[in-house]
Amino acid sequence: MNLATSLGAAALPNPVLTASGCAAAGRELEPFAPVASLGAVVTKSVTLRPRAGRPTPRMAETPSGMLNSIGLQNPGVAAFLAHDLPWLAERGARAVVSIAGGSVADYAALAARLADAPALVALEVNISCPNVESRGEVFACDPLAASRVVAAVRAETPAGIPVLAKLSPDVTDIVSVARACVDAGADGLTLINTLLGMVIDPVTLRPRLGGVTGGLSGPAIRPVAVRCVWQVHAALPAVPILGAGGIRTGADALEFLLAGASAVSVGTAVFGDPSAPVRVLAELSELLAGHGFGSVGEVVGYAHRPAGEERPAPPPPAPDPGPAPPMSVGAGSGRPAWRLGGEDW
Ligand SMILES: Cc1cc2nc3c(=O)[nH]c(=O)nc-3n(C[C@H](O)[C@H](O)[C@H](O)COP(=O)(O)O)c2cc1C
Repeated sequence: MNLATSLGAAALPNPVLTASGCAAAGRELEPFAPVASLGAVVTKSVTLRPRAGRPTPRMAETPSGMLNSIGLQNPGVAAFLAHDLPWLAERGARAVVSIAGGSVADYAALAARLADAPALVALEVNISCPNVESRGEVFACDPLAASRVVAAVRAETPAGIPVLAKLSPDVTDIVSVARACVDAGADGLTLINTLLGMVIDPVTLRPRLGGVTGGLSGPAIRPVAVRCVWQVHAALPAVPILGAGGIRTGADALEFLLAGASAVSVGTAVFGDPSAPVRVLAELSELLAGHGFGSVGEVVGYAHRPAGEERPAPPPPAPDPGPAPPMSVGAGSGRPAWRLGGEDW
């Protein structure tokens, strides 16, 4: 199985990455699987200056997902450059560095600081941030504002480093935002960031998150994410897409590739199972082989094929080797490792 894929000029050995904000810069995952074995590590969004984030509590469990209002807590780009990227480079890992800001100038300055950073294979532009120069309107919700950020980042970034614009699903027409970003120079798109949500505690009778609203992630958002990937791939088939949203199994990842993603990011699933990205990769590889695909490239967008164009039936499964050991959190718990609490993720 040829698992190699690419996001623009970034060649990746396989299509499974972490998602921004769910594995910091990869250190926490290393005890479970070498970060160099992943397609790439997408790092937590970094800002020009350190940020403390929003008030606690910052996370709340929801049916098949979670809400977070971390508020871009991060050490700032100087500390990130000093500590995190060298650590990834030493391990031979690839870094997709996520950047965030409150103005076009912030994004441009970050791109300039990162231009020759070690381990960097792509920049992911998190435009789900309030634009401080435009009444706090989120960049990703306005094609013009989104395109200005992308153009500024592209101008500061070396040609060999692709710029991926990460879009928000909280828009009426995601294709128009995607098109504006590509026209402004984005080499690829990450789809999707979290959906804006809120939970109110029935005991305290107040919002459960300190920041009141938060981003919804996990399996609950997967159908929204797959729909976004499908629509954008249908409209812009040549543009590479990094898919994200509720991926916790190889079958979930396959859905994104079939919809048109060239690679996927695993986010929320990592909190319940830090080995989720490597497990997803192993499961995906087995599924692709089972369907008779020889490479990742063959499956990207395959669900868009014309009616009647079918693959030969996959070969019959190998004889059953007997019961598999349960995938459990702890000895004898018998619970799948991605399940937390009473919810199904
Ligand atoms: C706790 C948490 C923090 C996140 N932080 C960021 C971030 O800093 N930048 C960003 O672009 N996305 C961030 N995200 C969004 C994820 O990268 C991802 O797009 C989204 O959660 C959907 O994928 P998932 O359902 O697999 O988590 C965060 C998500 C979570 C759950």
